[in-house]
Amino acid sequence: MWFINFCTTSIGKKIIMACSGLMLVLFLCTHVAGNLTIYHSSKIFQQYADQLHSHPLIVFFFSCSLLVIFLIHIGFGLYLFYENYKVSKSRYAVTTRVVNEKNTFAAKTMPYSGLAILLFLLVHISGFTFAPENVLISVTVEKLFSGFFYSLFYIVCFCALALHISHGFWSMLQTFGANHPRYNALIGKLTYIVPIVFLVIFSGIPLYFMTGIGAGY
Ligand code: HEM
Repeated sequence: MWFINFCTTSIGKKIIMACSGLMLVLFLCTHVAGNLTIYHSSKIFQQYADQLHSHPLIVFFFSCSLLVIFLIHIGFGLYLFYENYKVSKSRYAVTTRVVNEKNTFAAKTMPYSGLAILLFLLVHISGFTFAPENVLISVTVEKLFSGFFYSLFYIVCFCALALHISHGFWSMLQTFGANHPRYNALIGKLTYIVPIVFLVIFSGIPLYFMTGIGAGY
């Protein structure tokens, strides 16, 4: 019961968004690290994927947990968006604004970049997780990313992801109380560095194939 009450408070919703966001960023760190093997060779990438699938129970538990975290993050994100929308329509909007709120382009476009990521995930999972089982995953990667528009779609979505993480990361640290003059300069830099690292490593993969450099992978 206390949990339902907690979920309806403003700080409760922010904490849930921050915790689920942190878990998704941690997932992205493991995913980007695994995907780095693609840059090495198809053999090493295939070995990595095979190793992962040699523990089906762990993969199943991990996938289910990830799905729940995504659903929580999207659900509460939409809920907060709806509430902010209601407040912005009200004539008391100015008095209820949080003093520390950031009004950047990334902050204003959070629901839209979030929706772009959701669309990306639908395309991505149907392409990779549900790829034909009799085809090596390294072959699927090469085949899909050799499609120019498929790769372009990925790169555009990675830009949306970088924008989303940039504000999300800042917002998460505010919620966790990391707003201190001593750390603010570092936090400011991290809001650029973290999304750019993801953008460069993720986008490099479709670029590698769409430009033909990865031909014969
Ligand atoms: C070029 C960049 C990427 C590549 C090459 C890539 C590759 C893959 C592959 C091969 C799989 C299937 C793993 C398997 O079941 O064997 C996968 C699954 C997945 N990817 Fe990616 N991925 C990329 C970027 C991303 C990004 C940016 C996100 C999130 C925003 C993401 C989210 C997921 C999710 C949620 C799954 C399903 C995981 C599961 O079922 O447990 N991927 N990806």
